[in-house]
Amino acid sequence: MRTAVLWGVVRSALETIKREPAAGDVRSGRAAAGEPGPPVPLDIVDVGGGTGGFAVALAGLGHRITVIDPSPDALAALERRATEAGASDSVRAVQGDLGTVFDVLEPGSCDAVLCHGVLEYVEDPAEGCRSARGLLRPGGIASFLAANRTAVVLARALGGHVAEALAALHDPRGRFGAHDPVPRRFGEQALRDLVEQAGLTVHAVHGVRIFADLVPAAAIDVPVGSGPAANVADLLSLEAAASALPEFRAMATQLHVLAGLDEA
Ligand SMILES: C[S@@+](CC[C@H](N)C(=O)[O-])C[C@H]1O[C@@H](n2cnc3c(N)ncnc32)[C@H](O)[C@@H]1O
Repeated sequence: MRTAVLWGVVRSALETIKREPAAGDVRSGRAAAGEPGPPVPLDIVDVGGGTGGFAVALAGLGHRITVIDPSPDALAALERRATEAGASDSVRAVQGDLGTVFDVLEPGSCDAVLCHGVLEYVEDPAEGCRSARGLLRPGGIASFLAANRTAVVLARALGGHVAEALAALHDPRGRFGAHDPVPRRFGEQALRDLVEQAGLTVHAVHGVRIFADLVPAAAIDVPVGSGPAANVADLLSLEAAASALPEFRAMATQLHVLAGLDEA
C-alpha cells in the first residue's frame, strides 16, 4: 500500500517508452505465459534495489531488470525472491553502487533507471543523478524517490520531539540530530534541481505516503468498504488523488520525480 502511487506512476511511464525490438529480446514473465505484456521487454536498472520488491514485480510484467546494490545480504534476498516468483531469468543481481555503476554496466545501455531511497545515502547526490542519466538510452526514463525533509519535521513534532523538529527544519540536510539514521533529506525544489542539472527533463513530481504513515494502523485494518475513510481501498484512492497536488505532496514522507532523457 505504501508504494501504490509509485508503482502506478512508474508502470505507466514504462508503457510510454518506445524502443525497436533488438536481437535477444525474449518475452518473459507474464508475457511469456501468453498474458498481455510489453511489446518489447525493456532493460531496467534498479540502483540500490535492495531485496528486489520492485524489481521482481517489474520482471513479472515482462521486463529485464538489473539490480545494483552494495549489500550482499540484500542481493541474496533478491535472488531468493526472484526464484520464488519464477523470475530468475529476467532479474540479474550485481554488487556495486551508484558511484561506480559504470564499472559494471555500459553507459547508455538501459531504457529506465530506478533510484529509490538511495540519494539520501550516497556521498554526492548530484553525481548520483548524473550516473543515473548516463545509464539511459535517449527516450529513456529515470525514477527518483527520496525522503522529504518537510515530512520529518512534521513527524518529529507530532511525536512530541519538538526540538528535533526544529533541528530538522534548520539543518541543510534535513536531519533531526546526530542520531538520525538518514544522512540526507530533500525539499522538492532541491530534488528537481538535482535531476535537471544532471541533464534530465522532469516529467512529473508526486508525493508518496502522504497519509499512509499518518493514519493509525488499527484504522486501516477494517474490511474494505465497511468503515469510514480510513480503510485500505479508500486510503489508496486518497493517496492517488492527493499525490500530484502540490499542497499535499509537500508533506509526503517521500517525493518522487519522474524524468526523461530527451531524444537527440
Ligand atoms: C532504503 S533502501 C531502498 C531499497 C529499495 N530501492 C526500495 O525502495 O525499497 C536503500 C538501498 O540502497 C542501497 N545503497 C546504499 N548506498 C548505496 C549506493 N551508494 N549506491 C547504490 N545503492 C546503495 C542499500 O544497500 C539499500 O539496499
